[in-house]
Amino acid sequence: MTNFKKNFVAVFVLFLCGVLTFPAVAQDDHAHIKIDVERTIGEVDSLIYGNFLEHLGRAVYGGAYDPDSPKANDKGFRKDVIKASKELNVTQLRYPGGNFSSNYHWKDGVGPEDERPNRMELAWSRLESNHFGTNEFMEFTRAVDAKPYFTVNMGTGSMTEAQQWVEYTNVESGPYYAELRKKHGYEEPWNIKYWSLGNEMDGFWQIGHLNATDYAKKARETAKVMRLTDPSIELIAAGASNFRPDANPMHWNRVVLEELKNVVDYLALHIYVGNPDDNYYNFMSTPLVLEERTKIVEGMIRDVMSRADRGDRPPVKIAWDEWNVWYRARAGDSMTGDRALEEKYNLEDALVVAGFLNAFVRNADVVKMANMAQLVNVIAPIFTNGDDMYKQTTYYPLQLFSEYTYGTALDVYVDSETYDTDQFFIGLGESQTQQDNVPYLDVSASYKDNGEVIINVVNRHKDQAITTDIISQKGEFSGEFEVYEVNGPDVKANNNFKETKVKTEKKSSIQADGSEITYSFPAHSYTLIKGKIKTE
Ligand code: AHR
Repeated sequence: MTNFKKNFVAVFVLFLCGVLTFPAVAQDDHAHIKIDVERTIGEVDSLIYGNFLEHLGRAVYGGAYDPDSPKANDKGFRKDVIKASKELNVTQLRYPGGNFSSNYHWKDGVGPEDERPNRMELAWSRLESNHFGTNEFMEFTRAVDAKPYFTVNMGTGSMTEAQQWVEYTNVESGPYYAELRKKHGYEEPWNIKYWSLGNEMDGFWQIGHLNATDYAKKARETAKVMRLTDPSIELIAAGASNFRPDANPMHWNRVVLEELKNVVDYLALHIYVGNPDDNYYNFMSTPLVLEERTKIVEGMIRDVMSRADRGDRPPVKIAWDEWNVWYRARAGDSMTGDRALEEKYNLEDALVVAGFLNAFVRNADVVKMANMAQLVNVIAPIFTNGDDMYKQTTYYPLQLFSEYTYGTALDVYVDSETYDTDQFFIGLGESQTQQDNVPYLDVSASYKDNGEVIINVVNRHKDQAITTDIISQKGEFSGEFEVYEVNGPDVKANNNFKETKVKTEKKSSIQADGSEITYSFPAHSYTLIKGKIKTE
């Protein structure tokens, strides 16, 4: 016998005796999630659970602020919206736009209500009464326990106007605008920390749209006077939002980062996805596009930071300060007036929302802020009419994440079956993509100092549950694991004022003991599992 034959026979005999097995992963058809508490990514920043309130449609008037509603409190804010926002754990709230901010002059919205001017609102074609402005918004943020995040007007606004806004809100006393605030009844400064230097200035639709170099020049000088007014503020530059096939968004990001590398604290990115061709599996892969863009910008930040002089300030971070599903109410009449952008969400949209949140957690080292756009009525998780309110499908995944997913993000290993998408547009007015090897299981996890591990799993499969072995690589799962699931009868199921078909359900807990938990994730579901890992 030749050596080769001898070796082959020996291996074959060992295999028959059960000493050797081929290959280990093929032993069962389970998917695998491996959790290693030592493979860390970065701290999950609570600012990723932000939201957005723009003067647009019924977001402010008829949403947050509705003095004529039986649901209004003595300040005119809706109590039901406040309650739902608090339950959503909104950590920070962006205001007053969006596109609205590029033609908004903040002085119109302060002082006695009957002296405030009506203005033509050009971004979304409404009449703006200015009854809700800086101080009303600040009172609303207090009511919902959120931090404020303001966007200055870099379209028709001037750097002086931006400086005076910081003076009005953040300077204790002395100069004219600080004293004006006091005259308006607000003795203490609001101390607004987060300020965005304009909105989507790369978009041709933006009032006052600029090229990257001109934007960077204007932003740098505006930042200078704002910081001289209050050195403690943090500034967010408008990164790319225009991902249409003919745009060059990464050129915009590169120029803005290079020019503002010593000035800003965050670069803002925006993304809206949709399912206009009704292709479920394509749609379910869209959070991967956000992740791809995050990685590209992260690389650019690294490169630019190597030439930056930032003193002891940390490197620039990414703020996904507008993200959501938005494609139905995105044309014709649904784009303007008092009922603009009233998107109604279904289960598949909620799963994509969970996918976005997973992507933020997986990139927790660089994504330090994010804002679902928006909070109420306008592409929003909360929806009202005159006297009633309901929670849209997208409310539930955001609420589950913001309730539990904190601590250190973990670099999770996932082995599940995959699928390939077609070439498709990720949403209206967006670029095309084609994704190979999209795992049916989309996973993120985080770990807290008290030993608690939180695992978020979207099963993208439309029809099949996926039985999964969740394996702890370091330490053992121990005790009761709570399980929460967002699901509904089918992927098109939605909620309305009468029925809540899609919501969070607490499932039976898992009693864990050892390094493995086996769980079957139902078709088209998002599940959060949390419990302790004992490492000693
Ligand atoms: O959130 C709706 C709009 O989308 C915002 O006003 C704008 O910034 C973006 O294009």
